[in-house]
Amino acid sequence: MRVLSGTQPTGRLHIGNYFGAIRQFFKLQDEGNESYYFIANYHALTSLTDAGELQEITFHVAIGYLALGIDPEKSVFFLQSDVPQVAELCWILNCRCPVSMMEKAHSYKDKVARGLPASMGLFDYPVLQAADIVIYDAERVPVGQDQKQHVEMARDLAGKLNRACGRDVLVLPEAHIVSEAATVPGIDGEKMSKSYGNTIEIFATAKATQKRCAQIVTDSTPLEEAIDPEKCNVFALLKLFVSDEEAGDIAGKYRAGGYGYGRAKKRLAELINEQFAAARDRYNELEKDPDYVRDVLREGGRKARETAEATMQRVREACGILMNR
Ligand code: ADP
Ligand code: TRP
Repeated sequence: MRVLSGTQPTGRLHIGNYFGAIRQFFKLQDEGNESYYFIANYHALTSLTDAGELQEITFHVAIGYLALGIDPEKSVFFLQSDVPQVAELCWILNCRCPVSMMEKAHSYKDKVARGLPASMGLFDYPVLQAADIVIYDAERVPVGQDQKQHVEMARDLAGKLNRACGRDVLVLPEAHIVSEAATVPGIDGEKMSKSYGNTIEIFATAKATQKRCAQIVTDSTPLEEAIDPEKCNVFALLKLFVSDEEAGDIAGKYRAGGYGYGRAKKRLAELINEQFAAARDRYNELEKDPDYVRDVLREGGRKARETAEATMQRVREACGILMNR
């Protein structure tokens, strides 16, 4: 099966990204699927304007993914901008895309409501994402719940182009969503998101992680009283890291009283620090070897361009676009 996913380099990686999306990437990669993973730096231009910041976060995401488990021997790992054909396909899909479809996009409305400028790029974001997906003949797209609509739009647009061309030029993709981690809460209980400033970062020091966990918002139940685990942000996060058995055990302690939020927060920080210790070490090593990271991305870009160019030859021909080169 051909799987593909992209990540915008717009902020430091957090545990919402990990459980909602990144973790599935490694699973699918290690199950022997043909995997394409890329850093969506063209998409990031819809929200970032500072060139230095975009460069820095692009590098952070690249080393972060390599440190966490993207294996360049098994997956094609690359930068979106190393495949300029996606911009070409985006234009062609734009010409088959009704404006009314984009007007229904939740993420456009949400982002404008949060104050992002309503640029053409932001409006067209789902069409570029559709191009990203269909140009590699992707069948499955592992993403968090909030990206489901975008993948459905990609499928619709591929269908529209196929119908307009009278043949199956593009593969119809499907979203791959892991429901139990559909929405990871942030330290304030809202969806964890870099735009809300409520994240717990993957690549922070053990000490910074402890401090961050201590900031998780809880109510003022006194230590000796019983706590309902299902109403607690700390417990919602703890559950992501422990077995069902340990979760049941901690839930029992909450209900019995005398456990307290402080202990739960400490345990959570320990678990996060344990889970990401090896990846953090690899991250620190990779940070010292930017040439290796660039080589991996360059080679990934070369492979991705080959696949993309083959799709574009089919698309151009089916649409009547002549290339005299
Ligand atoms: P952010 O909300 O921090 O801007 P992105 O929009 O860049 O994160 O999301 C990257 C990927 O991580 C997407 O597939 C998204 O669905 C997933 N994701 C982000 N935050 C969460 C969360 N809190 N819970 C589950 N998945 C998430
Ligand atoms: N929109 C996705 C996000 O914010 C990132 C993305 C860009 C993507 N192109 C993609 C995800 C293609 C999956 C497939 O997370």
